[in-house]
Amino acid sequence: MKIGILGSGDVGRALGSGFASHGHDVMIGTRTTSKPELVKWQKAAGKRASLGTFANAAAHGEVLLLCTRGDVTEAAIELAGPKNFDGKVVIDVTNPLDFSKGMPPSLFVGTTDSLGERIQRKLPKAKVVKCFNIVSNETMIDPKMKDGTPDMLIAGNDAGAKKAVAGILKEFGWGDPIDVGGIDGARWLEAWTPLWVRICQAVDSWSVAFRVLRS
Ligand SMILES: NC(=O)c1ccc[n+]([C@@H]2O[C@H](COP(=O)([O-])OP(=O)(O)OC[C@H]3O[C@@H](n4cnc5c(N)ncnc54)[C@H](OP(=O)(O)O)[C@@H]3O)[C@@H](O)[C@H]2O)c1
Repeated sequence: MKIGILGSGDVGRALGSGFASHGHDVMIGTRTTSKPELVKWQKAAGKRASLGTFANAAAHGEVLLLCTRGDVTEAAIELAGPKNFDGKVVIDVTNPLDFSKGMPPSLFVGTTDSLGERIQRKLPKAKVVKCFNIVSNETMIDPKMKDGTPDMLIAGNDAGAKKAVAGILKEFGWGDPIDVGGIDGARWLEAWTPLWVRICQAVDSWSVAFRVLRS
């Protein structure tokens, strides 16, 4: 598949390497392709990896991933060209984190709305699926941990898009995701992140993920 990743931080690069290593043709979109960490990423990820503008990456991908800072994600979509998202599966990895009062972060939108819903409203013809936002970038690909394989939770309005995302998760070593419903479920997946930070602080480890246990 052709994959377009909007965002060149730890998440964009980790997912980009994951897609390239699974045989997909990946372009990372950024405002600055010359950043040393991106040049290094492209070299390491090999010939299936390329760099471009946000608009180049959005046009390139059959599946798109949003991996930008939460508060600038809507601005990044504008740079990418909203029409480039029409009809596509858009995996939303972002979190609306507010660090204005330091750690742990809070959210700049929540409980009655979410960034996932804002993105779906901004891109009405795209099929937005919230996914990957509740784990660290180090756990996104091949998520085996000391205590087992965690669960991934997803939310989105389009059943076909969620099926496509479940297929990608399987390729990356995840089990079947837990589908928490429509994109309004993003309110609670995003709220999970400040809780994740508090749990990490409490157990003194940043290598933490979640698993649903059934009796
Ligand atoms: N870090 C994690 O492990 C983790 C895990 C789960 C979810 N998340 C979420 O995933 C997203 C990405 O996280 P991250 O840590 O990889 O990177 P980040 O530092 O949150 O975001 C980096 C990206 O934001 C873009 N950006 C910054 N200012 C911008 C602006 N004014 N206009 C347009 N784009 C701008 C940067 O663009 P340039 O490339 O042009 O610099 C870069 O691509 C965040 O929403 C985060 O909450 C992170």
